[in-house]
Amino acid sequence: MKNLREMTQEERSAEKKSQLERYQQYLDRGLQLNMTRGKPGEDQLELSMPMLNVLNGESDCRDSFGVDCRNYGELLGSMDARKLFGNYLEISAEETIIVGSSSLTFMYDCIARAMLKGVLDSKEPWIRSGKTKFICPVPGYDRHFTICEFLGIEMIPVELSPLGPDMETIRKLVKEDETIKGIWCVPKYTNPYGGCYSDETVRALASMETKAEDFRIFWDNAYGMHYIYKDVPVLNILDECKKAGNPNRAYLFGSTSKITFPGAGVGFFGASVENIKYTQKQIAAQSISWDKLNMLRHVRFFGNIEGIRRMMDRQAALLRPKFDRVLSILESELDGCGAGEWVRPDGGYFITYIGNKGCAKRIHQLCKEAGVLLTEPGATHPYHNDPEDRFLRIAPSYPPVNELQTAMEVFCVSAKIASLEALEI
Ligand SMILES: Cc1ncc(COP(=O)(O)O)c(C=O)c1O
Repeated sequence: MKNLREMTQEERSAEKKSQLERYQQYLDRGLQLNMTRGKPGEDQLELSMPMLNVLNGESDCRDSFGVDCRNYGELLGSMDARKLFGNYLEISAEETIIVGSSSLTFMYDCIARAMLKGVLDSKEPWIRSGKTKFICPVPGYDRHFTICEFLGIEMIPVELSPLGPDMETIRKLVKEDETIKGIWCVPKYTNPYGGCYSDETVRALASMETKAEDFRIFWDNAYGMHYIYKDVPVLNILDECKKAGNPNRAYLFGSTSKITFPGAGVGFFGASVENIKYTQKQIAAQSISWDKLNMLRHVRFFGNIEGIRRMMDRQAALLRPKFDRVLSILESELDGCGAGEWVRPDGGYFITYIGNKGCAKRIHQLCKEAGVLLTEPGATHPYHNDPEDRFLRIAPSYPPVNELQTAMEVFCVSAKIASLEALEI
């Protein structure tokens, strides 16, 4: 299709008429399709069903250190699980703790504790510093932004490219402002771009000068092994922080939410041993111990990191046809036609669409009216404020391929209509 911008007025009118006719056909079908959240598909969940049986009829519920996983104890998690998921985060077991079944909950807890009590190097609780600010690379993960908003932390958006955030801007900001206490990072297959931080970015984050001595990098490695097309290595942030003389700067997070069962897997946290000891004292006020039977199930099910790798190969094999389908429709419908761009991810759960200025809300609305639900426009930005109204997050993981096909056709027709309308203004 010819680029919409290069069309004459008559050509655009004819194109709009034909796209509206197509759109009407979808309206008439009364569709009900949902691409709002990055949930695993049912076929992916099936892969972990055998895990539910690994303790069935099993009289031995002790881990390899002899700890009875049925009972209280081991606030930091069973050592077998700390080893396994330390391996996942590429850090030692002593630097890893298992924190229940959700990493997001622990991210929230870490910030809430920092606000009330401070972190290891704090002179005072963050909340006392008058204002607390976080750097938020955009587009980013909406739930990170919700944590900040809920806890009254001011968010500073900084542009993210698929190789990482704009480090020049970040360096300047954190060097001068003591109230900037942290940054959100999804370093691998970022939500929503699907790209990975370059070595240069990781080193810059680890070594940059920060006015706040108690600055923390919230390194949310939610997609650490979740390749779809390409396994991309990302530098180890904890090592880089140690090398740069900032050993306590990084907090690492991860979970098996998209490896086994979302919200019913295990969440984990990694940091320097000093940070872990400090955190241990704080969480002792909150918990006696988390669910070690679930940790044991995961450890016995996977055995070792190779077991997780094999699972991720199977997960990728189920996700790839869905991503292929979405990308091929975007390419065949929108390539070169001036109705937006998209980022081809290496892994993760999302595809980011970047529309023409002022089009994202309209595309969302057109899709919704045709029965195709997408993540809310603005969700990729702090305060739901996408200043140019351009970003939409496409989540292909949950619907079956035939539904994705229709949903993406509706999406592309909507993108063309919205882009043509924008050219009329
Ligand atoms: C970047 C990121 N972090 C965290 C989570 C949630 O993790 P959990 O289920 O471990 O709380 C998600 C889920 O979509 C995510 O995309």
